[in-house]
Amino acid sequence: MQHMVKPVCILCLQCSLLYGVHLAAAVASAGDGNGGDQFAYSGFAGVKDLTLDGTAMVTPDGLLELTNGKPQVKGHAFHPTPLRFEESSSPEGGEKKAAVRSFSASFVFGIVTASPGVGGHGIALVITPTKDLSSGLASTYLGFLNRSSNGDNRNHIFAVELDTIQSPEFSDIDDNHVGIDINSLVSSNASDAGYYDDNTGEFKSLTLVSGKAMQVWVDYDDDATQIDVRLAPVGIKKPMKPLVSTRFNLSTVITDEAYVGFSASIGTMTSQHYVLGWSFGVGTQAPAIDMDKLSRLPGTGRRSKKSYRPKTIVIALPIVSVVLVIAVAAGVFLLIKRKFQRYVELREDWELEFGAHRLSYKDLLQATERFNNKNLLGIGGFGRVYKGVLPTSSSEVAVKRVSHDSRQGIKEFVAEVASIGRLRHRNLVQLFGYCRLKEELLLVYDYMPNGSLDKYLYSHDDKPTLNWAQRFQIIKGIASGLLYLHEEWEQIVIHRDIKPSNVLLDNDMNGRLGDFGLARLYNRDTELQTTVVAGTFGYMAPELALTGKASPLTDVFAFGAFLLEVTSGRRPVEQDIEGHRLLLTDWVFENCSKEQILAVIDPRLNGNINISEASLVLKLGLLCSHPMSNVRPTMRQVVQYLNGDMPLPEMSPMRFTFSLSALMQNQGFDSLLKSLGTISTLSIGR
Ligand SMILES: *[C@@H]1O[C@H](CO)[C@@H](O)[C@H](O)[C@H]1NC(C)=O
Ligand SMILES: *[C@@H]1O[C@H](CO)[C@@H](O)[C@H](O)[C@H]1NC(C)=O
Ligand SMILES: *[C@@H]1O[C@H](CO)[C@@H](O)[C@H](O)[C@H]1NC(C)=O
Repeated sequence: MQHMVKPVCILCLQCSLLYGVHLAAAVASAGDGNGGDQFAYSGFAGVKDLTLDGTAMVTPDGLLELTNGKPQVKGHAFHPTPLRFEESSSPEGGEKKAAVRSFSASFVFGIVTASPGVGGHGIALVITPTKDLSSGLASTYLGFLNRSSNGDNRNHIFAVELDTIQSPEFSDIDDNHVGIDINSLVSSNASDAGYYDDNTGEFKSLTLVSGKAMQVWVDYDDDATQIDVRLAPVGIKKPMKPLVSTRFNLSTVITDEAYVGFSASIGTMTSQHYVLGWSFGVGTQAPAIDMDKLSRLPGTGRRSKKSYRPKTIVIALPIVSVVLVIAVAAGVFLLIKRKFQRYVELREDWELEFGAHRLSYKDLLQATERFNNKNLLGIGGFGRVYKGVLPTSSSEVAVKRVSHDSRQGIKEFVAEVASIGRLRHRNLVQLFGYCRLKEELLLVYDYMPNGSLDKYLYSHDDKPTLNWAQRFQIIKGIASGLLYLHEEWEQIVIHRDIKPSNVLLDNDMNGRLGDFGLARLYNRDTELQTTVVAGTFGYMAPELALTGKASPLTDVFAFGAFLLEVTSGRRPVEQDIEGHRLLLTDWVFENCSKEQILAVIDPRLNGNINISEASLVLKLGLLCSHPMSNVRPTMRQVVQYLNGDMPLPEMSPMRFTFSLSALMQNQGFDSLLKSLGTISTLSIGR
């Protein structure tokens, strides 16, 4: 039954020693119909026969790189030959559809981002009847489905997704989840990423975009028709309790001959998606992946290769030397000490002046019941947010845990946090205070019971959406909050990250801006590349992408995108079926210039709008997100336009004669930057 072939090749060992490369131990043993079809890639160095497309490639280091960190791309990689999933057909033949056999898959992956914890879209293990997934869209569609194929049983696609963005249109539970997908991106079942500890049974959370390697196991049992998916950090053995399961007879889904592979995609937030090792077995267990042979992920230079070995090494030497015992004891001591230190609150002299805003870690632990998962409100771009009740005042708060790797910029940041704590405006989420640990900042905000605006804009199920009056009120509120930040406070505060997910709704459904200043923590002193990565693509003004310099007018640009989004219910950048990027600004502009305003209004409003308000908001949105910054109004003017205190200037079509999307069509962001470099020398605008 077993066809596991362990390749022991002295020559390979020698080559790898000589050249310092690990030759891939790829074994594909052909099935004979009765036994299993299986293969294993313990690393990808020298592997040439994978079927790759899009951005997928095998790196010289032996990693399978699915996406390369550019926005709006997708990549696919397939084992070259199809596997037979059904029982061998009986000699009598017959029309009856045979059952899909048990199968098992295992792979090691890593998602690397420029700033830890900030990244987008995801990877899926896919089983499909074809290797041609060219009709799959990037971004939310994870590169393997599109708007019309999503949910269609004729796809015959089974997938396990590792998704790092919450797409309310697919009822995603959060932006860090593992889901089982049957012909649809609306997962049959999904769970927040993590695993159940075998010893304690405790759930341990994992962050998919942590840049650390993790292993996934997918098992289908044909008797129970059950799919179990497990996840664990590399080094932890396969957990006993599955993370997520679903019961489904896959005989109706997977075709007899099907290809297995990966699909990954990026939207506006970029990431590099890697597979380090992979094995698969039909009718048998997936062969073990040799962890020692796996290459390291980029950006993990500090970690020695040994750390990929299981942590539970059994020391079975007959004579354990005293030295070893001492070394182990010292190691354990250091480990415990290090772990302990992570949770030690840091207070330094320079912080004394911000004393009033300092909260104790003990209080925050108590407030959130030790950051209990049941209090998890969500996972945002910068970290996890928990609901809590402060023991001292019994006020309800939201506690955001932001990890920071270096001390660089922390002092200025804390100074900024402290000054932000003095900002008071009815359209800003009030910051209560902060607490600082070695690798983490805890920011404490007012709790907003109605959650963030994006949930209302994009949920496609029966959840009530917002009516026009509510949307207009939110728009006016956010405009006045931004005006306060830009002009009415003692210092100019630039928000840097205006988008619906950063707009929270209070008890009366007023919009309040949250998360100000946070983008700065990641943008400070970093290369342009990082700035592009940390900002959110569709909301980023061209000159910000070009120079990395934020200004009130770059906020106005993002506010423009926000206006269009709230009115149309569409995202600022979407992809059409040919994979071209569609910019919301272009689409709105086209329709507005043809006087077809109604065509761009969110269909969920059923036409119940105030036409003159909606048309004002759309035109203002276009003006604000004009590519040339000197054409954009200031927030003071924006507020005057919205209140009807000043008429909107007539926009001549000349102002929009060049469109951003023409620059971006089928080009990377780099070439956009280059073209902008040239264009800024032309005289356009007023
Ligand atoms: C699953 O479906 C196949 C094909 O319809 C059928 O032959 C098989 O018996 C089913 N498996 C179970 C466990 O019901
Ligand atoms: C989803 O997966 C969890 C974890 O395995 C399981 O307890 C739960 O029953 C599953 N839900 C459904 C609807 O299958
Ligand atoms: C969506 O994908 C399906 C299946 O791959 C394909 O047949 C169809 O043409 C695609 N639809 C569009 C609109 O591209």
